[in-house]
Formats: sequence, C-alpha cells, structure tokens
Amino acid sequence: MPTKPTMPAVHADRYGPPEVLHIRQMPVPEPKANEVRVRILASAVTASDIFIRSAQVTPRLQIPFRLMMGITKPRQQILGFVFSGIVDATGADTSRFTPGDQVYGCTGFRLGAYAEYRCMPETDSRVHGCLARKPANLSHEEATAAAYGGLLALQYVEKGQIHSGDSVLIYGASGTSGTIAVQYAKALGAHVTAVCSTANIDLVRALGADHVLDYTTSDTPPPGARYNFVLDSVGGLKGSKLKEACKLALEENGQWVSIDDGDLQLSSQRLDQITTLVESGTLKPVVGAAYPLERIVEAHRHVQTGHKRGGVAITI
Ligand SMILES: NC(=O)c1ccc[n+]([C@@H]2O[C@H](COP(=O)([O-])OP(=O)(O)OC[C@H]3O[C@@H](n4cnc5c(N)ncnc54)[C@H](OP(=O)(O)O)[C@@H]3O)[C@@H](O)[C@H]2O)c1
Repeated sequence: MPTKPTMPAVHADRYGPPEVLHIRQMPVPEPKANEVRVRILASAVTASDIFIRSAQVTPRLQIPFRLMMGITKPRQQILGFVFSGIVDATGADTSRFTPGDQVYGCTGFRLGAYAEYRCMPETDSRVHGCLARKPANLSHEEATAAAYGGLLALQYVEKGQIHSGDSVLIYGASGTSGTIAVQYAKALGAHVTAVCSTANIDLVRALGADHVLDYTTSDTPPPGARYNFVLDSVGGLKGSKLKEACKLALEENGQWVSIDDGDLQLSSQRLDQITTLVESGTLKPVVGAAYPLERIVEAHRHVQTGHKRGGVAITI
C-alpha cells in the first residue's frame, strides 16, 4: 500500500513557553467538497499565537479560554493563525479559487497555519477563518503582515469614522497593526501622530506620520495637542505615562478605541479591501524579521519580548 504523504507541522504538547513547540510529521490533509487546499509558503508569529501558546490570560478569562481552546493543552493539533500561499487542490463544490491562485488569510479557531498545507472553506467563519486573493506586489512573508495587521487596523480605525483633517493618534505605531493603522489613517486624510520608542521613530515617519511621540522620553503630548480619535494598537497590557496623558488630550467628542475591544472579524471582504489598498500603493506592510519553520521556538521568543517591529514572518 502506498504511504500517505506527510508534512512538517508545529505542535504544542501543552500550554507554556516557546519551548513547548515541536515540529512533527503529519498527514497532508485532503480538501472536503467545500474546501480548497493551500500550500502554505509563509506564516507569522502574531500576538494571537503567543496568547494561545502561553494561555496567559487574566484569571477571569482562564475558564472560557480553556473551554474554547483546550483544557490542558491546545485542542488544535497544529498551531498558527495567519498564512500566505498557493491553492494546490480544490473540492468539488468550490468556485472562488482554482489551483495556482496565490491567496492569503487567517485560520480562525481551528488554527493550523504552522504547516505546509491547510484546507480552508471558501466561506468566512470565526472557526475556519477567511481567505482572499493575495496582493500581487507582496512576498508571502509580507502578505502575512498585511492580513493580520490589515484586518486589525482597518476594523479598528474604521470605528473612528475619520474625516479629512481629523487629528488622529496611533499609540503603538510600530507593531503589525500600528504600522498599517498609521498608513490607513493618513490615506483617510487624517493628520497623524504616531507613538513609538526611539528606535522606531524613523520607521513611523517613513510610513507617513506627521508627528512622532516617543513614549520612552516623553510623558505628555505637546502643549495644546488635541485628538479626535486615538487607536491604542498595542492593547491594555502595554502602557506608559504618555498613554495616560494622551487620554486627557481627547477632543470633547473624541473617541478612544483599544484594539482589544471586541473580536477581530475574519472577513474575506476586508482582505479584498486590503489587497486593493496594497496593490494601489496605499498600504505597505512591515516585516521586521523572518525565520524558517525550523526556528519557530526562536521566533516565538523574539515576539514574546513585546518589541517586534511590524510582523515576524515564518517561511515554510
Ligand atoms: N480584538 C481582537 O480580537 C484581537 C485579535 C488579535 C490581536 N489583538 C490585539 O492586537 C494587538 C496588536 O498586535 P500587533 O502585532 O499589531 O502589535 P504588538 O505585537 O502588540 O506590538 C508590537 C509593538 O508594540 C510596541 N510597544 C511595546 N510596548 C509598548 C508600550 N508600552 N507603548 C507603546 N508601544 C509599545 C513595540 O515597539 P517598541 O519596541 O518600540 O516598544 C512593538 O513595535 C495585540 O497586542 C492584541 O492584544 C486583538
């Protein structure tokens, strides 16, 4: 009997530090009638991957988290939340994609992007994720940052209903979502102030920020500065004196939005919007580092420092 083809895939035997991750050989999955199979060429280490691997959630969320993701170890055998690659097989009932199409997307609760192949339904869901045509002008590594950072940035910047000329502050402008949020707010006509540390000032200026505040050297925004909309794109766990001071600099009807408010929407329509914005040159995702799959532990250690620049990609 012929042996079934296998692929390398990253598992976590339990929740814990990066060292719980191991590469195993797994059977290559076969697409169901409603699925396409993607030969994954790049994934990434995102905030979501760190969160799931470490299970470091507040005590209040421990029980719901473990019911959803697995009681003693991640229920999903293969980890990984974001991917970019090429469709290599299609189920009988699929119609959106054909073999050879370059695609990118997120995997949802079923994870599975840290592997050579992943089957994806063509329709969006929180469980299975979302899939769209990849921007033609990006590498697969860059596409993972566009998918993850783009879905986060567009969803949360759009909450601000920004008008041309609005004064917008992006707190944490150097992460995967922050780098895209700066560019998107600029494209909407905002006057953008970006907050980052000293090492990333040149980066956020190059992305189009009109003003930069360094949270490691400034505790307050400039006198008289007022903001119509603030996006906290690093979430509640990362703060500074400057972040607190910025809350006092909101306009009377201004809006403060945290990227941790509510759930990330996994939408192929929004991925299509990101593809259009990237291909027109409006958005350019940032990838600060890339590691081969074999160095997944090192890549997780890097991201866990909390100081990555843009996205950290995994080449498969
Ligand atoms: N709502 C949802 O469903 C959902 C889903 C997924 C993710 N998220 C949230 O999205 C967030 C964004 O993830 P991301 O990948 O874009 O970025 P990230 O990994 O959270 O941010 C990395 C950047 O944060 C900067 N940073 C670190 N500490 C900071 C501080 N105290 N003040 C300001 N900046 C600081 C770092 O720059 P320096 O090195 O210069 O400090 C680094 O460039 C995650 O933290 C997660 O909470 C939400």
